[in-house]
Amino acid sequence: MDKLIINGMVPLNGEVAISGAKNAVLPMLCASVLVDSGSVVLKNIPHLHDVTTTVRLLRSMGVSVTLDDNMNIELDPSTIKNFYAPYDLVKTMRSSILVLGPLLSKFGQAKVSLPGGCAIGTRPVEMHLDALTRMGASIKIENGYITATTTKLVGTNINFPKSTVTGTENILMASTLAEGNTIIYNAAREPEVVDLGNFLNEMGASITGHGTDTIKIKGVSELKGISYSALPDRIETGTFLVAAAITGGKITVKNTIPEHVETIIQKLKESGAKISSSKTSITLDMKGVKPKPVNIETGAYPLFPTDMQAQITALNTIADGISIIKENIFENRFMHVQEMTRMGAEIRLEKNCAIISGVDNLVGAPVMATDLRASASLILVGLAAKGTTEIERIYHIDRGYDCIEEKLRQLGADISREPM
Ligand code: EPU
Repeated sequence: MDKLIINGMVPLNGEVAISGAKNAVLPMLCASVLVDSGSVVLKNIPHLHDVTTTVRLLRSMGVSVTLDDNMNIELDPSTIKNFYAPYDLVKTMRSSILVLGPLLSKFGQAKVSLPGGCAIGTRPVEMHLDALTRMGASIKIENGYITATTTKLVGTNINFPKSTVTGTENILMASTLAEGNTIIYNAAREPEVVDLGNFLNEMGASITGHGTDTIKIKGVSELKGISYSALPDRIETGTFLVAAAITGGKITVKNTIPEHVETIIQKLKESGAKISSSKTSITLDMKGVKPKPVNIETGAYPLFPTDMQAQITALNTIADGISIIKENIFENRFMHVQEMTRMGAEIRLEKNCAIISGVDNLVGAPVMATDLRASASLILVGLAAKGTTEIERIYHIDRGYDCIEEKLRQLGADISREPM
């Protein structure tokens, strides 16, 4: 296992290019099994463990997957021979549940390990299962596995009691080949859901309303292979902007979509950053500015993303005053707080809120990463701290950030990876 070593207090400077969005690419990889003719070529693929795990999962089912030198992935599902997602793979990556809808819709059967809880919460999938049952699937849970069968899924009205990103994506994929019309009410509006809808439409699906809370899908009889480039990662974008802000630097983030990070930009402006955007880039200047405290409350898109909560918590640890962070999506998403207090941060947890009193200085310490976004936030406090921070269990970061230390080094950070 590797660890990251950071010598902090270097203001970041320069330009960084954003990679393709993990949470857009993962459902698209799974959606490739829906295709009848030709193969799917996915471009702008980030180099991440979660992508590798999804490819392993699809290969284990018999899907032919080839990667070219530019990391474009070509998927040909015509060789698929089983419809099984084993526990060993699902336990390392909950988004494996995204194969359930496509397999069931195309092949009428799927056996997928039930994802367990994870470091950020219990994360049940009953809304996915209820919706598929309403579409005519017969679902049993036995020995930790979801076994689902159907002669043919039939379109219906699905009203999600709560906004769910992968739940919406599972039903979106399943309904493309279902008989008749499906309407998803209270659908998730995240940009990754919109990108998946656009991708499926190019494959021949008939989807409208993605990006609003009501998505309408007319079932079609077949989908064809296409070539598609995934949208840029808005959480990677936000994380780099905070990295510049927390170090008092000035950077330009390129290959991004500013519109997708509006709430993050607004909070960074409130904290004192000067920010300007073009169509595909964002420049943040925080030189000589001590961050002001900013309050946030997480929510489904377009509200403030839970996947940026830990990073803004990091920025607030050195702010000039008190801030309150309220986490409304996941009940246990404050694992980073204990580690930050080991570096001198002053944070008190009360139910789903973190109350942060900004300090003048953080001091480097050995800390432990607990989940993906918590790991990113520990890198951020490490970049701002005096002295050396060593982050263990960084395999979490490799699940969701493409070449993070190379990109940070390019901006001037003193960060390296060492085997333990
Ligand atoms: N929920 C249920 N029942 C369900 C489904 C969800 O109670 O059947 C609850 C969840 O426990 C949570 C809320 O509904 O409290 C919203 O969860 P959602 O289903 O939207 O989350 P997800 O689809 O499992 C995706 C991202 C997460 C991101 C969340 C919220 C992917 C692969 N994952 O998860 O990304 O935090 O949406 O935006 O798209 C990450 O990238 O670090 C990450 C965790």
